[in-house]
Amino acid sequence: MSAEETLILVKPDGVARGLTGEVIRRIEAKGYRLTDLRFVAPDRELLAAHYAEHEGKPFYEPLLDFMSSGPSVAIRAQGERVIEGFRSLAGTTDPTTAAPGTIRGDLGRDWGERVQQNLVHGSDSPESAARELALWFA
Ligand code: PPS
Repeated sequence: MSAEETLILVKPDGVARGLTGEVIRRIEAKGYRLTDLRFVAPDRELLAAHYAEHEGKPFYEPLLDFMSSGPSVAIRAQGERVIEGFRSLAGTTDPTTAAPGTIRGDLGRDWGERVQQNLVHGSDSPESAARELALWFA
């Protein structure tokens, strides 16, 4: 099987807290290869396209506000089953209950119902990865 690609974001909380290196260390230690990386200060249009499937959910507007609060680091990563593998490294969405040993479980912070600073994003399917990589590496 040919190696997959995924989009990983170190979100504004991760960048502001100086955790970009720690996230990259974990990606590389797992054996995935970084093939592109850039700082992006996304505009609302990019974020609306990225999170289109969540429009209307209670966390949608707070999430867009949070993602607009500073730059993210966008990473193109490659490897065998990297989409599933990175989401496993990241841990579940809620940083309070994400398993210890995961990025979110070890390092994420929970500031209440609608403000979860969960540090990273990883594409959830090959189709999402292709769509999201095209948006963030346009
Ligand atoms: S859903 O409804 O189950 O599909 O939602 P989920 O996959 O858990 O989350 C979708 C994205 O929304 C983010 N999210 C939040 N961010 C901040 N605060 C709160 N409360 C919150 N709830 C969900 C979540 O991190 C997902 O974003 P990404 O960038 O994919 O991690």
